[in-house]
Amino acid sequence: MGLKRGLCWSSVVVLFVLQCVRLTAATTALPNCSYPAVFAFGDSLSDTGNSIAAFPEQFANAELDPNGVLFPTHAADRYTDGKLLLDFLAFGVRRRPIYPVLRGTGGDFTFGTNFAAYGAPARTVKVWRKDAGFNSPFSLDVQHQWSERYKIRVWFYESPIFNPPGRLVQSLPKLATWNESLFMVWSGYQDYFYSLYDKKLTVSQTRKIVPDVVKAIEEHIEKMLTPVVYIPPNTPSMIMPIANTILVVNLPPLGCIPAMLTLYGGPDAKYDIHGCLKNLNSITKHHNKLLGERMEALRVKYPDAKLLYGDAHGVYTDILKHPSKYNVTAPLKACCGVGGSYNFNPKVTCGHAGLVDGKFLNLTTSLPALPCANPSAHLSWDGIHTSNTFNKAAVTDFLTGKHITPAGGFGCSPDFTFWDSST
Ligand SMILES: *[C@@H]1O[C@H](CO)[C@@H](O)[C@H](O)[C@H]1NC(C)=O
Ligand SMILES: *[C@@H]1O[C@H](CO)[C@@H](O)[C@H](O)[C@H]1NC(C)=O
Ligand SMILES: *[C@@H]1O[C@H](CO)[C@@H](O)[C@H](O)[C@H]1NC(C)=O
Ligand SMILES: *[C@@H]1O[C@H](CO)[C@@H](O)[C@H](O)[C@H]1NC(C)=O
Repeated sequence: MGLKRGLCWSSVVVLFVLQCVRLTAATTALPNCSYPAVFAFGDSLSDTGNSIAAFPEQFANAELDPNGVLFPTHAADRYTDGKLLLDFLAFGVRRRPIYPVLRGTGGDFTFGTNFAAYGAPARTVKVWRKDAGFNSPFSLDVQHQWSERYKIRVWFYESPIFNPPGRLVQSLPKLATWNESLFMVWSGYQDYFYSLYDKKLTVSQTRKIVPDVVKAIEEHIEKMLTPVVYIPPNTPSMIMPIANTILVVNLPPLGCIPAMLTLYGGPDAKYDIHGCLKNLNSITKHHNKLLGERMEALRVKYPDAKLLYGDAHGVYTDILKHPSKYNVTAPLKACCGVGGSYNFNPKVTCGHAGLVDGKFLNLTTSLPALPCANPSAHLSWDGIHTSNTFNKAAVTDFLTGKHITPAGGFGCSPDFTFWDSST
């Protein structure tokens, strides 16, 4: 596709342009996207049920409508209206939902495993607890430990000595395809968001944690790429497989998130042309710039690995610039929420019930109607988490080669209907 575009752009004869566009459209058939399995690391933007498995009461509302109300067979354990970015990624490469590693029952791990957890920071929890009122113990370093242990358990499962044929049957990915699978890391949102939401850090203090957050993500990627020697009992030592294809996703503009607009907006705040908060946007801009630079450095250090940098920020901004192209009419408003300019009130958020100005509100149901007239018109589901509309737009771009580096991205044609035709 790159070649054909190149030819078109080099055609200086204006008359050729139309012909060129037609030819390009007719010949841009990309190969089907396909990976044996998908694995993910991150926070509530990607968790499909790890934290609710560990803390069922704390995260009870993850499996209750309206969360996940548009996901097939909800309760979905997802903090979004329909599908997560990870869902679109998995379905786009023709796989099924990616189940959380802590799901003891009713999980199908044939096509990958999810290590992401609601509330999980990039930085180790030991550091992060100081900066946030709310926390989860499952930071990226712990998620890495899970994935290393997971490989060992899969090895045991596949070993004819430790698991003779027929003794133990489970749906697991093949260890031999680990190096050919697709890994996603989308982390850091938690570190910034909750420090600000709980007002544990000021905006300028939050900006100062950026290098540490990016460092934690970088260290995680390096660990994924570093072979570890494993010595099984009574068996020669072996080198465990490592990841090869890693999609690292950057962060959407924090100053455009309804919760942040509600908490940090006001007459003294400075807004950009889209109505987002400039000072908060500078945090995510800094994060993304640094992360992009580290990805460049990692590509040099690990030339055999395929390290992709998905520009979620670019996708988000593109939708803010051209909302009608995406059928988005309420880019700065939560779908599930109540009140104010951004349909968000920290006193009663999506999935909770309570009093606002003496009035009882119940945001724990999608009956008799969805929480907003048209969820697909929103970029934010609940004022905190990205919506189905955004998640789909981001993955469509990443897979087909837009808003991603190296240029061309995955260069493949997604088919989101592979598992669920309603998409
Ligand atoms: C690509 O996937 C589509 C279905 O989504 C299928 O019809 C087509 O045959 C596939 N093409 C190749 C080359 O596998
Ligand atoms: C992945 O590892 C398997 C065996 O462990 C090997 O046969 C295969 O060639 C490797 N694939 C790549 C792309 O390196
Ligand atoms: C926007 O809506 C139109 C009309 O319903 C539809 O044809 C188009 O596919 C939609 N675009 C997106 C990006 O969803
Ligand atoms: C909110 O509405 C749901 C569905 O009608 C109901 O089950 C639940 O008890 C309500 N919550 C409260 C706190 O009233």
